[in-house]
Amino acid sequence: MSKDHRVPPADVSRIWGGRFDAGPAAIMESINVSIDFDARLIEQDIAASQAHAAMLAQQGIISQADAQAILGGLEHVLEEVKGGRLSFSRTLEDVHMNVEGRLAELIGEAAGRLHTARSRNDQVATDFRLWVRDAIDALDRAARDLQAALIGRAEEHASTVMPGFTHLQAAQPVTLGHHLLAYVEMLGRDRGRLSDCRARLNESPLGAAALAGTSFPIDRRATAAALGFDRPCANSLDAVSDRDFALEFLSAGAIMAIHLSRLGEEIVIWTCERFGFLRLADAFSTGSSIMPQKRNPDAAELTRAKAGRVVGALVGLLTVMKGLPLAYAKDMQEDKEPVFEAFDTLSLCLAAMQGMIATATADPGRMRAAAEEGFADATDLADWLVRIKGLPFRRAHHVTGALVKAAEASGCSLAALPLDSMQAIEPAIDEGVFAVLGCDASVASRTSEGGTAPARVRLAAAEARRRFLAP
Ligand code: ARG
Repeated sequence: MSKDHRVPPADVSRIWGGRFDAGPAAIMESINVSIDFDARLIEQDIAASQAHAAMLAQQGIISQADAQAILGGLEHVLEEVKGGRLSFSRTLEDVHMNVEGRLAELIGEAAGRLHTARSRNDQVATDFRLWVRDAIDALDRAARDLQAALIGRAEEHASTVMPGFTHLQAAQPVTLGHHLLAYVEMLGRDRGRLSDCRARLNESPLGAAALAGTSFPIDRRATAAALGFDRPCANSLDAVSDRDFALEFLSAGAIMAIHLSRLGEEIVIWTCERFGFLRLADAFSTGSSIMPQKRNPDAAELTRAKAGRVVGALVGLLTVMKGLPLAYAKDMQEDKEPVFEAFDTLSLCLAAMQGMIATATADPGRMRAAAEEGFADATDLADWLVRIKGLPFRRAHHVTGALVKAAEASGCSLAALPLDSMQAIEPAIDEGVFAVLGCDASVASRTSEGGTAPARVRLAAAEARRRFLAP
């Protein structure tokens, strides 16, 4: 009797089947395993498998009976996932093998036909694109919610005067509404970048198989359409090795995180006792364990700090991808955690920022006082000397500097300087000057498009509603 060389029935717990005699070393399993994090792709993985199985049957590559068994089984696995009843095995390495393993337990040998004409390489690329697409949609909604909060507060504070800063020194008065709308613009660009990324990523890698395509008569357009992709990726090598979509997502996310960190920093500055421009609601303040008077802006500080995670995720994945030859390499399994980390961080920060902005209380008196103390209307005085008195701007600048010095010496604002002390510095000055001095006159005069005049800010807020919040 000759030895029986027939292959035993496929055992998914030993994924690569036939050619190995011994199992992996424990440390090999530890470095290889991804189920601990890629389980997050499971719904996308099931959806992609459903589209694939339906297409295989449509093309006559597997029987209708097997396809029905597979589709029913996948539906069952999905229900288990949603009910939190599916447990994962690390021996099965990753989410793809865990789904297939569970499917085999449920429907037996037919499960082994699902992997016809595909590879985990096109499978993971497909799942991950689907996941990032959903992540973009979720971040877009969260960013929109934050814009809505900012616009609401901007309308409320369209004429609340505060110092506008350059070099963190009072520069010219602006309105709080104008300042908040600046962040609405930043978030609008963030959303635009995410939506650009979404448009470019929306091609289906499925059917690229391991790297070269497949000899089976598959219909890539059908699976692409079933999964909501615009078209199949054009090149099979590119399809399995491209992670631009993850890098673009992280780039857009990193810029968004930087924006949120700037807003976080402003909140830290505005809420400190020296400034006192803003008071965070109790719900968004923390106390000190030792200093009873403290109201710390921890959420703003953490939003500022967490930008580091998102930027780190971008740099990390860029570094993973750098110099990788085509096509798939296991390096690319390292693509997921940075993306998950960035998404979780951004979701948290957007929501925290939305809560802080919606519930904070501004102190218009402190803001106005700071604007007035800082001689923020000095430019208005210089401009008046140019416009009304015909002085060259350089000379007007010089004269105004001398007037600020005089006001500082007598401890008053520019508007409170007596006319004769002004005339001692510049005889051309007359009563008319008082119309442009003071912060209200200053902001009201800034009516140029995109400027800080309250009337402009109201228009801009209405326009922002239309541009960013319309369904
Ligand atoms: N878990 C793997 C990943 O995330 C799936 C692809 C495995 N492909 C392979 N040729 N080993 O990249």
